[in-house]
Amino acid sequence: MIDMLVRLYDLPDSSELYRTVASQGITLRRARAFEKHTVAKFARENFSEKWASEIEVAMTRQPVSCWIATKDKAILGFSCYETTQRGFFGPTGVIESARGTGLGKALLFKALESLRDIGYAYGIIGGVGPREFYAKNCGAIEIPGSDPGVYGDILP
Ligand SMILES: CC(C)(COP(=O)(O)OP(=O)(O)OC[C@H]1O[C@@H](n2cnc3c(N)ncnc32)[C@H](O)[C@@H]1OP(=O)(O)O)[C@@H](O)C(=O)NCCC(=O)NCCS
Repeated sequence: MIDMLVRLYDLPDSSELYRTVASQGITLRRARAFEKHTVAKFARENFSEKWASEIEVAMTRQPVSCWIATKDKAILGFSCYETTQRGFFGPTGVIESARGTGLGKALLFKALESLRDIGYAYGIIGGVGPREFYAKNCGAIEIPGSDPGVYGDILP
């Protein structure tokens, strides 16, 4: 799992992306502290315990560093930043039934814009799964020598 680097000062305008998501009746917003258990449960059931742990860290930030996509009082996806390391993006995930409609990209941009807005020039996608997704959607490039990076010696 490598890390990837993103030029935050060069992010394209995201307004059309957010309009597309809103037109599907989906709300993009930060999770709230009193929803910690709900968002962590969502990650645990749909993704992994480790991602639930990272969400619990994101929920302690002010402002909360976890974005969620909701529809009809249900979570469809999430994205976090500054969980495992400062300046890191991730984890992120969209439930299978909601994939392929721009939601993953919109959640990616919400978190990257948040990193940019707190002063980072570059963001790091930590421990990447789908490299093509990040290369295509935000121009991310692979960081040489970043595997395993900070993800060595992981406890179960
Ligand atoms: C990766 C993930 C968040 C993408 O969510 P999504 O809602 O399906 O993505 P989007 O619909 O916003 O896709 C935006 C664009 O990226 C492309 N894309 C989506 N997933 C991709 C992938 N795995 N590889 C390459 N391109 C991908 C789409 O085709 C789309 O392209 P288009 O704009 O030309 O139509 C989702 O597949 C997921 O939750 N995967 C499992 C968890 C995971 O791997 N998280 C990342 C950990 S680093």
